[in-house]
Amino acid sequence: MMLSVTARAGTNIALVKYWGKRDAALNLPAAGSLSLTLADFGSETTVSFTPQGEGQRRNPVDQVFLAGQPAGEAFASRVRKFLDLVRARAGIDLPAEVRTENSVPTAAGLASSAAGFAALALAATRAAGLELSLTELSALARRGSGSAARSLFGGLVAMAPGVLADGGDAVAHPLLDEPAWRAWDIRLCVAITASGEKGISSTAAMERTARTSPYYAAWLASVPADLVAAEAAVEARDLTLLGQVAERSALRMHACAMAAEPHIVYWNSGTLAAMATVARLRSQGVAAYFTIDAGPHVKVLCHAADAAAVAAALTATDGVMRVLVLAPGPGAHVIRQSPVSRP
Ligand code: PMV
Repeated sequence: MMLSVTARAGTNIALVKYWGKRDAALNLPAAGSLSLTLADFGSETTVSFTPQGEGQRRNPVDQVFLAGQPAGEAFASRVRKFLDLVRARAGIDLPAEVRTENSVPTAAGLASSAAGFAALALAATRAAGLELSLTELSALARRGSGSAARSLFGGLVAMAPGVLADGGDAVAHPLLDEPAWRAWDIRLCVAITASGEKGISSTAAMERTARTSPYYAAWLASVPADLVAAEAAVEARDLTLLGQVAERSALRMHACAMAAEPHIVYWNSGTLAAMATVARLRSQGVAAYFTIDAGPHVKVLCHAADAAAVAAALTATDGVMRVLVLAPGPGAHVIRQSPVSRP
């Protein structure tokens, strides 16, 4: 029996960054990473494979909708390529209907592809009749987007680069169980400093960085020690140590990209102003630490008790348009499923 399955996944923000691939085709990271999965902001995706008449079987045409509208070609073709992986694994050649709703605010710079491919991996495999483990789903989601492998799991998550050529061990795993990450009251305040899409995609920017930045080898060499330090910080629930690692990881990633040819600069004046606000908060005794992804927005890690003060200081910063306060959240999960009726 074919099912229509709806899955939900939260986005995640890396505290130790992923920047560079060891295999572009399989989307294998060149180094590990460590992230925080967020509640509320994410993706809800419904997938159903529709049984069709014999004649239509050879050439499945997937229908892809984003926010209730037919999706643009770039998004739709990424989804179709991903569905081909699921079809190959399930041994089916049926077309699918995919409906995605993102609750990530538009242009918030909160990687919607991480949540999107995590939700799609779960919904599409279940709809195709497959029951994959979270680890297998993590490897599959990675094919859509490197960071998506981490959104299968909740709270604090580590991603392994793996050593296998097929990427079977390039998967994420949770560092804490759910009661443990829920008990650690941390928040991420997102300072939005621009509207609109980012200038260069993370895939293109990683490729250019690896090919042209003289700092790329040094960046990769710095990641394992940051991962060890960040994991120890999580184990000790030491926000200060975790924040220090997060700031240096983000700055090293950006320094490496800035040194590419042509240079890759994601920051704007609001980014720098928000970084200065974080430094000022710290000089006032507030444990607040920033990270920055492939865009100009600044995400600030802090204790839940300080989140209102951190958000207020960021809101008052020149160039900051809006601030969101986000809590840790669960990994990808199925929220609905129902049988698909035969035509
Ligand atoms: O998952 P991708 O291909 O969009 O790359 C993510 C890159 C960063 O967000 C900058 C870092 C990370 O680890 O998420």
